Amino acid sequence: MTDDIRIRRAGRGCRKAGRLPIVALAFLLAGGVTGAHAQGTPLSGEPITPVPLDVVTDPARVSLGQRLFSDTRLSGDNSISCSSCHMIARGGADGLRLSRGPQNRVPPTNTPTILNVSLSALLNWNGRNRSLTGQLREVVTNPHIMDGEWPTVLARLRADTALAAEFRGLYPDGITQDSVIDALAEYERSLLTPNAPFDRYLRGEADALSPEAKAGYELFKFYGCVSCHQGVNVGGNMLQAFGIFGSPAAAEGGPDTPGAARDTGISPSEPVFRVPSLRNVAQTAPYFHNGSVQTLPEAIDIMANYQLGRSITPDDIAQIEAFLNSLTGEYQGIPLGDYQP
Ligand code: HEC
Ligand code: HEC
Repeated sequence: MTDDIRIRRAGRGCRKAGRLPIVALAFLLAGGVTGAHAQGTPLSGEPITPVPLDVVTDPARVSLGQRLFSDTRLSGDNSISCSSCHMIARGGADGLRLSRGPQNRVPPTNTPTILNVSLSALLNWNGRNRSLTGQLREVVTNPHIMDGEWPTVLARLRADTALAAEFRGLYPDGITQDSVIDALAEYERSLLTPNAPFDRYLRGEADALSPEAKAGYELFKFYGCVSCHQGVNVGGNMLQAFGIFGSPAAAEGGPDTPGAARDTGISPSEPVFRVPSLRNVAQTAPYFHNGSVQTLPEAIDIMANYQLGRSITPDDIAQIEAFLNSLTGEYQGIPLGDYQP
């Protein structure tokens, strides 16, 4: 039974990989590698699309949400805010293997980035949320994250007369669970990082990518990484088993691995996770649901071995790393690596 599922899944991966060279060929014929496509002619038919340059958000709600995002009154003991763990200047995460929650509690999984979060179809390592508001409904009361209670949080915020007046200006009912969640969600929608070198390349700037990064993108497609990490967020839109060809150390708990999804029907023997977005991945070490891997080359090597069943050369790994580095975008016009709050 288990083996059937493995074989079926492996077969699917191979078919994908088999089809990809055709995509690569079409790309070559379109002049992608020779640079024949004119500056400004966007590439078409690629499995990854650029982060939108603009997003329509309501500036007043964004501003309110931004303040709430770094407001410790949203946590039970007033000690911690969303931005304690999700820092824009640290790639939207915190650089820790596992974060420190309230009362030094440690969340069971690594903190994912908050950047471009609105572009992911599934949220959380186990993909349990499908909307920003759904995620926000549970985050305040999560004992490892904010450990708050809505009535207390709302009472504290309502006692702030200036804040209460500002809310009333935007929401007829003033400060409520729904309006707090709405403002936070609007802020999250504003957190896009467009203009990564790779996106500029997709938009037709042939020189935006180094030859190494271009070769890395071809390998990313050829090996089949793109069968899981694709779409605008280079991930974020499906659940997959972690360890299709053998079990990586990070998945040693099998389906009981902390953070894994249960009863998905995808694999009864391996842990199942939401495929993470690889946008800004060079800024978001350490990697994997348990933060066990510090460097991109190591993460790429594990992916090739355990998700695709192939061992790839250090040169290939370096090229794929160059491609992943080209996925670092800009926040408010500043390359994310240089952004200071
Ligand atoms: C103690 C650190 C910590 C704090 C504080 C924190 N988070 Fe998180 N956040 C996490 C962790 C860990 C996860 C992953 C949890 C999981 O998947 O089960 C997460 C996941 C998320 C996600 C889903 C991202 C994705 O791509 O799956 C969003 C959105 C988010 N947090 C927003 C917030 C907001 C808003 C706040 C404040 C109300 C907040 N977080 C406070 C650690 C933190
Ligand atoms: C079969 C689906 C699948 C394929 C194919 C795949 N990945 Fe992944 N990838 C995942 C899943 C699932 C995770 C999350 C694993 C975890 O954290 O437990 C992941 C995580 C990652 C991470 C860590 C991201 C982070 O923020 O922690 C990187 C980097 C990565 N993959 C790169 C690649 C590369 C490069 C390839 C091709 C060599 C590849 N992946 C192929 C499913 C896949």
